[in-house]
Amino acid sequence: MKTLTLSLIAAAGLFSMAAHADESGTDLIKRGEYLTQAADCVACHTTKDGKPFAGGLAFKTPMGTLYSPNITADKETGIGDWSDADFLRAVHEGKNKEGQHLYPAFPYTSYTLLKDDDVKAIKAYLFSLLPVHQPNRENEMPFPFNQRWGMWFWNLVNFDSKRFEPDTSQSAEWNQGKYLVDGLGHCGECHTPRNITMGMKDSKPYAGTEVDGWTAFNISSDKKAGIGSWSKGDIVQYLRSGHVKGKAQAAGPMAEVIENSTRHLTDADLNAMATYIQTLKPQADSDVTKSRSDWGHEATSVDNLRGVPFKDTQETDGARLFLGNCASCHSFGGQGSQDGYYPSLMKNSVVGAKTSNNLINVILNGVSRKTNDGDVFMPGFADTLSTYMLKEFGAQPALNVKESDVKDLRGE
Ligand code: HEC
Ligand code: HEC
Ligand code: HEC
Repeated sequence: MKTLTLSLIAAAGLFSMAAHADESGTDLIKRGEYLTQAADCVACHTTKDGKPFAGGLAFKTPMGTLYSPNITADKETGIGDWSDADFLRAVHEGKNKEGQHLYPAFPYTSYTLLKDDDVKAIKAYLFSLLPVHQPNRENEMPFPFNQRWGMWFWNLVNFDSKRFEPDTSQSAEWNQGKYLVDGLGHCGECHTPRNITMGMKDSKPYAGTEVDGWTAFNISSDKKAGIGSWSKGDIVQYLRSGHVKGKAQAAGPMAEVIENSTRHLTDADLNAMATYIQTLKPQADSDVTKSRSDWGHEATSVDNLRGVPFKDTQETDGARLFLGNCASCHSFGGQGSQDGYYPSLMKNSVVGAKTSNNLINVILNGVSRKTNDGDVFMPGFADTLSTYMLKEFGAQPALNVKESDVKDLRGE
C-alpha cells in the first residue's frame, strides 16, 4: 500500500515535471507575468511617468545615488542580449553581465531564493514585452563607493547565495508562503532591521524598521509589537486591499506593494503567505505595551482620538483643525464612515504606533492606492494647511509629533 502511494506520488511528480517542460510559450509568459508581479520588479525599474521596466528610478543610499537600469529587452540600452545564465546570475548572485557586483538596493539578497524555472519565466515575460530604448543614467557615487569590486566585502558579511529549501516539517502551504514572503515578495528588505553595514539583521527578522521616512512596522507574530493579534483573514485582506477595518490601512510604500504586487496574487497564494506570516518568530519590543491597532476607544469627542485626552490650551486649536479638515470624511468623533471606506482613526495602526512618522506622512501626502475594487484616495494637506497645522500638531503632546520630525520628513 505504502509503496503504491509512493510510486503514485513519484509518477505525479514526473508528470508535473513533464508538464513544465512542455509549457507552451504563452503559458510560460503568463506564469512569468504573475511571478514578476509577486516579485514587484516594476516598483523599482519604473519612474513615475516612465515606461514599465525602462529603469531610471533614483535610489538615495548613504554611499551616493544610484539609478535602476533598463531591464526591457532592448539590445542596446536594456538586457536584450543577456543569456538565461546572465539573468540567473544577476537575480541569484547580484552580478551584472560583466560579472561585476550590483549594489544591494537590488534585492538579490532575497531573490537568491528563487527557483531557476521561476527566474527563467520572469525573463521570458520581460522579453515578451516591447523593448524600450532608454539609456541608463550614470550613478552618482563618489570614490570609493563607485568601485563595484568593493562590494565583495559586503557580500562576504551579508550575503549567502542559496536557493529556497523547503522545510519538510511544515506543510506545503507554509513552504509556499515562505517562498513568496522571504523570496519573491522580498518583504524582509523593508520589514527587517539592518545591521551597521546595512545588511538584513538575521537575528531580528520582520521586527520592523525605517524606510524612506516611513516605519515598515513589526509584522512578526508578537501580539503587542507585531501583528500576532491579526487573524489569517485579516492578513489576507490587508495584502489584497490594504484595508482592514478597525486595524490598519496601507499608505506610502506599502500602498505601492499592494497596488503593484499582492493584490494580483491568487487567494491560495495570499493564504499561504498569511499562514507563514502567522508563524514568524515573535519580536517583542519593551517600549510597546499594547498593539498599535488597540489604541483609542469609541468616542463622541475628538479628545479621545488616541485614548489620551488633550490637556493644555492647544486643545481647542487641535480640535478645530480636526473638525475643519478631517471630520468631513473621518466623522466628528473620528470613527470613520459607516461603510468603513473612510477609516476610523481609533484602532488604527498608524495612529497607535510608537513612532509618529507614518501619521505625519499620511497627513502631508494623503493616501492613494489602486485596489481591485476601485481607487482609495485621501488628499494630502502639505500645501493647504502647511506650516500652521504642522505647528499645531507639533505642539500636541498627545500625538507625539515634534516639529523637527516634520522638517526631517520634508527634507528641510
Ligand atoms: C527594491 C528595488 C528593486 C527591485 C524590487 C528590483 N530591482 Fe532590479 N535593480 C535595482 C537596482 C537599484 C539595480 C541597479 C544596481 C546597481 O547598479 O548595482 C537593479 C539591477 C537589476 C539588474 C541588472 C541590470 C544591469 O544592467 O546590470 C537586473 C537584471 C534586474 N535588476 C532585474 C530585476 C528583476 C527581474 C526584478 C524582479 C524579480 C528586480 N530587478 C527587482 C532595484 C530593484
Ligand atoms: C518598500 C517597503 C515595503 C515592502 C517591500 C513591504 N512592506 Fe509592508 N509595510 C511597509 C510600510 C512603510 C508599512 C506601513 C504602512 C502604513 O503605515 O500605511 C507597511 C505595513 C505592512 C503591514 C501592516 C502592519 C500594521 O500594523 O499596520 C503588513 C501586514 C505588511 N506591511 C506586510 C508586508 C508583506 C507581507 C510584504 C511582502 C509581500 C511587505 N509588507 C512588503 C513597507 C514595505
Ligand atoms: C476627503 C476625505 C478625507 C479627508 C478630508 C481626510 N481623510 Fe484621512 N483618509 C481618507 C481615506 C479615503 C483614507 C484611506 C482609507 C484606506 O486606506 O482604505 C484615509 C486614511 C487616513 C489615515 C490612515 C492611514 C494609514 O496609513 O493607515 C489617517 C491616520 C488619516 N486618514 C487621518 C486624517 C487626518 C488627520 C485628516 C485631517 C487632517 C484626514 N485624514 C482627512 C479620507 C480622508
